[in-house]
Amino acid sequence: MFVEAIVLQLSPLASTMRTIYHNIGSMQTMNDIDSLSKGKAIAVKDNKIENIMDSIDEFESSDAQFIDVDGRSIVPGFIDGHSHLLWAGDRFNEHNLRMQGKSYAEIAEMGGGIMETVRQTRKVGAEELYSIGENRLKNALRYGTTFLEAKTGYGLSTEHELRLLSVVEQLKSVQNLPSIHSTWMGAHAVTPEHTYDSYTDEILSDQLPRVLESNLADSADVFCEPGWFSVEQSEDILRASRKGGLRLRMHVDEFSDGGGGELAAELRVRTADHAHHTSMDTRMKMKDAGVMTGFLPGTPYCNGDDWPNFAEIHNHDIPFSMATDFNPNCHISSIPFIGSLAVQRNGMSPFDALACVTRQAAKSTPRSDGLEQGVIKPGAVANFNILNSKHWESWCMSPASSPVHSICLEGTHIEF
Ligand code: NIG
Ligand code: FE
Repeated sequence: MFVEAIVLQLSPLASTMRTIYHNIGSMQTMNDIDSLSKGKAIAVKDNKIENIMDSIDEFESSDAQFIDVDGRSIVPGFIDGHSHLLWAGDRFNEHNLRMQGKSYAEIAEMGGGIMETVRQTRKVGAEELYSIGENRLKNALRYGTTFLEAKTGYGLSTEHELRLLSVVEQLKSVQNLPSIHSTWMGAHAVTPEHTYDSYTDEILSDQLPRVLESNLADSADVFCEPGWFSVEQSEDILRASRKGGLRLRMHVDEFSDGGGGELAAELRVRTADHAHHTSMDTRMKMKDAGVMTGFLPGTPYCNGDDWPNFAEIHNHDIPFSMATDFNPNCHISSIPFIGSLAVQRNGMSPFDALACVTRQAAKSTPRSDGLEQGVIKPGAVANFNILNSKHWESWCMSPASSPVHSICLEGTHIEF
């Protein structure tokens, strides 16, 4: 399997000392001021960026470690703000059904889709799930992801959702892999013994209280879409989640405009994702309510669905981020591929696309330690990608291979 072929070579550099990256070809910091930095060097101390400098003279005689990046470019570490990290099995057979004209909803009605992955995931032990997750994180890191949101949602019972949350928790503490924001998504679909009403009741009376008690989730997410959780059911689950201290996220209007975007605006959730069929009126309400729109172009790409009109959204100055939506129906771990889709198929500039997967994504998916991420500036977490090319635009120009040469991850230098 591809992920197993990856060898991570960690340099012996300790992350407790100062490291100077120098001889930088170009650097896109994503800072408001001085975005395309003229700086030629970055000083890193512990897990933070200490300074951006024109020269390394002041450190010449210090005991800092020097890393010559040989004229390569540097961009912030990518933030994958929407990923269904943990599940087992695969559903590649469903492609035949799509070829026969079956929609995502029809495949789900036939017992496929999310429910098929739930069956496969429940059969697998926690250790195997851990190793599946670890491999996926290595793969994401290879493509420059330094921070990732990981949803549950393939357990769909209190016991199985808690099991997935605890595997994600274990993955959080692994060194030299992307850091994780953990999202409980028990409201992803229902198992055959439930209706959406009866499962919503069970979530409210049992699953959510147990999740809150476990303290394992940072956010809650609901699949609010006609055919899945209704606007009313979603509202009940999200309000109770917020009351319990969780941040809110939503899947809305993926296949049709079902009112999910309206609810997102009303509840002022952090991010409303997919949103491919949300009306312009609702988009404006979401904007006014401070809701980030999370576009997931990989999903219509994998489903062969109509392509959303991102350009229209761009013209209205609606804030949005982009992410992979990695899931059994969308095997995309590469943020650079998402950037390539936006740039080559939507006419977005490499700069705007990069903003979506760095500083924009950071707004809806913050770090729990409060450190700023998605930008290169003093005080921010030391997460950045050293690209193969001297041109920073290269980050989204090689859809079928990683543009990343090496990474500074939380102050530790990682070479592949
Ligand atoms: O975001 N749409 C809902 N959830 C996922 C797909 C999950 C699956 O098909 O397994 C998504 O696309
Ligand atoms: Fe999703």
